[in-house]
Amino acid sequence: MDKRERAKARREKRRQEITLLRTIPYSDHQRWWSIDTIAVVTGANRGIGFDIAHQLAVHGLTVILTSRDAGVGDEARKVLQERGLTVFFHQLDVVDPSSIKVFAEWVQQDFGGIDILVNNAGVNFNHGTDNSVEFAEQVIGTNYFGTKSMIQAMIPLMRPSASGARIVNVSSRLGRLNGRRNRIGDVTLRKQLENVDTLSEELIDGTVNKFLEQVKDGSWTSCGWPQNYTDYSMSKLAVNAYTRLMAKMLSDRPEGQKIYINCYCPGWVKTAMTGWAGHTSPEEGADTGVWLSLLLDQLVTGKFFAERREINF
Ligand SMILES: NC(=O)c1ccc[n+]([C@@H]2O[C@H](COP(=O)([O-])OP(=O)(O)OC[C@H]3O[C@@H](n4cnc5c(N)ncnc54)[C@H](OP(=O)(O)O)[C@@H]3O)[C@@H](O)[C@H]2O)c1
Repeated sequence: MDKRERAKARREKRRQEITLLRTIPYSDHQRWWSIDTIAVVTGANRGIGFDIAHQLAVHGLTVILTSRDAGVGDEARKVLQERGLTVFFHQLDVVDPSSIKVFAEWVQQDFGGIDILVNNAGVNFNHGTDNSVEFAEQVIGTNYFGTKSMIQAMIPLMRPSASGARIVNVSSRLGRLNGRRNRIGDVTLRKQLENVDTLSEELIDGTVNKFLEQVKDGSWTSCGWPQNYTDYSMSKLAVNAYTRLMAKMLSDRPEGQKIYINCYCPGWVKTAMTGWAGHTSPEEGADTGVWLSLLLDQLVTGKFFAERREINF
């Protein structure tokens, strides 16, 4: 068996293990949530986000399905409600501060806060072997700055509870700092981003802004950025770094007001984003995000996961 076949066999084995794990119901002891638990999912009108919303609702939570397009979002809400699930809809464009503000006020007024935030909304404009940065600003703006804006807007709304509130960021292995085939060439910068003591909002924002400046002046190709889907990889690298930074910043909250934040890679999933290529279904791609949202182990924060296992940043 060559390397590629071995990887395929490993993937298939893990897939089967997870299929099995998903058939095991949560016990009463594990179910810290109820219908009063409120989960918000961004970009949930289709793809992985729709399946995360679906699965959380099937587990018995109240889900707020959000979408930047009100028409398709409300249709998605209807599909789930017709299955007897408790799902509400609200418009939410994660790159529009006024949309986030209106959403936050509505959530506060109608629900009194939230317990889970899944930052799923994302864009990518490259397929196959392309590596265009034509839409770099939109990619970084949505995937990183949109995620960051939602985290900042939702933290004040996260309700105190013994189980803790949770934030799950849908990221990608393409954003790994030490990926073998796709990483930042500048070792010093990589080390700064890796070390949680040197990690800061200024460093993360400064890094993506420097990349965007180089995209504008055309010098980005020779500056040692990741080689594959460079804009997308940088956006997810920033999401990962921000996840670790926020975990550190949130770690000193008192008992009863804890917020746990993690990120995960859904794998290569058959959605519009990949042109329906990929190894797995949106349902499977949603699995680790749902598992993390419902995790009982409260010590897990600031980590990166794939297929229900921790992986390196
Ligand atoms: N598919 C994969 O193989 C893969 C792998 C790794 C990570 N991911 C990540 O998984 C997440 C979901 O992707 P997907 O594969 O399900 O792709 P998708 O089917 O294209 O769904 C992306 C979702 O994000 C929404 N969105 C985009 N910009 C938004 C904005 N400004 N505000 C609110 N929503 C916005 C889209 O809304 P519209 O319908 O209005 O466009 C759509 O609902 C993304 O974060 C992606 O980066 C996917």
